[in-house]
Amino acid sequence: MTSALVIQNLKKTYTNGVEALKGVSLEIEQGDFFALLGPNGAGKTTIIGIVTGLVIKTAGGAKVFGFDIDKEHEKAKAQIGVVQQEVNFNPFDKCIDIVVNQAGYYGIPRSVAIPRAKKIFDDLGMADKINERGLSLSGGMKRRLMIARALVNDPKLLILDEPTAGVDVELRRGMWDYLRSVTAKGVTILLTTHYLEEAEQLCNRVAIINKGEIIASGTMKDILGRLKKETIVVNLTKPVTEEILSSLSAYKPKKTDETAMELEIGEGKGLNEAILVLNQNSFQVESIRSKTGRLEEVFVHLTSDNNPDY
Ligand SMILES: Nc1ncnc2c1ncn2[C@@H]1O[C@H](COP(=O)(O)OP(=O)(O)OP(=O)(O)O)[C@@H](O)[C@H]1O
Ligand SMILES: [Mg+2]
Repeated sequence: MTSALVIQNLKKTYTNGVEALKGVSLEIEQGDFFALLGPNGAGKTTIIGIVTGLVIKTAGGAKVFGFDIDKEHEKAKAQIGVVQQEVNFNPFDKCIDIVVNQAGYYGIPRSVAIPRAKKIFDDLGMADKINERGLSLSGGMKRRLMIARALVNDPKLLILDEPTAGVDVELRRGMWDYLRSVTAKGVTILLTTHYLEEAEQLCNRVAIINKGEIIASGTMKDILGRLKKETIVVNLTKPVTEEILSSLSAYKPKKTDETAMELEIGEGKGLNEAILVLNQNSFQVESIRSKTGRLEEVFVHLTSDNNPDY
């Protein structure tokens, strides 16, 4: 089966000398929900810009469903819907026009585009907004409008560059459900996000980019499996004492609150044993949670300059 996106040895040096991509290769299979993660300035938007024809590459190549972005530019572009990082519609246009006009760029007649746009607005829960001007929408709704616009050409590959940045929890979760329904229909998704919990929840494959280079890629399960240690927060029913901290020294305990501490588990230091030590010292555990998401821990380890463990 043809891959949805193949990127080979992509390089980009901007005119100011910034080497944004140092030879990036990636492959996204059809049907994947793929997360491209990396710190600010890592090169994510540059990759998306090149694939969508907005940024001129320095070297390398890419194919979208087998269509070369140089030699078969129009065909490659027709496969893609993109939600760019920056809000970039004409704020004075009505929502419906913003989406229907986009369809026009793909040669889709208005008679097809209008009902299609209405259906998408409906599915996105913003049917009541179609006659409002873009500028009157809230930030979260603007993002939804951008998703609607990206979907109007019925793309096989949907690329979303931080679609949930600044979107509140409820709208974000609604968007997740919507994106899940989009992939369920067979659309391949490439998502960048700084919300790692989001990537962990949604995506089955992941690549992590840092300073223009891919530093890890694989299934979400593989990447999470690289986590050797995990920090947990333990809430106790009574105040933490110096004695209990020293009894748990193997777990590098850190008192974070009157009755709470952080412990590092993994690599032979199991959670069960830690709880046993607590109980033996007559401490009862009220609750336990992971300090950060598991993907976030892997990410921080991989992208920090000093990562002897990985
Ligand atoms: N038009 C440009 N001209 C010069 N340098 C640029 C340009 N666009 C991006 N860069 C630089 O290229 C590098 C990669 O930027 P890019 O926007 O691709 O990162 P990113 O991973 O999308 O970051 P973020 O998470 O902040 O969106 C950065 O050092 C950035 O400053
Ligand atoms: Mg970016």
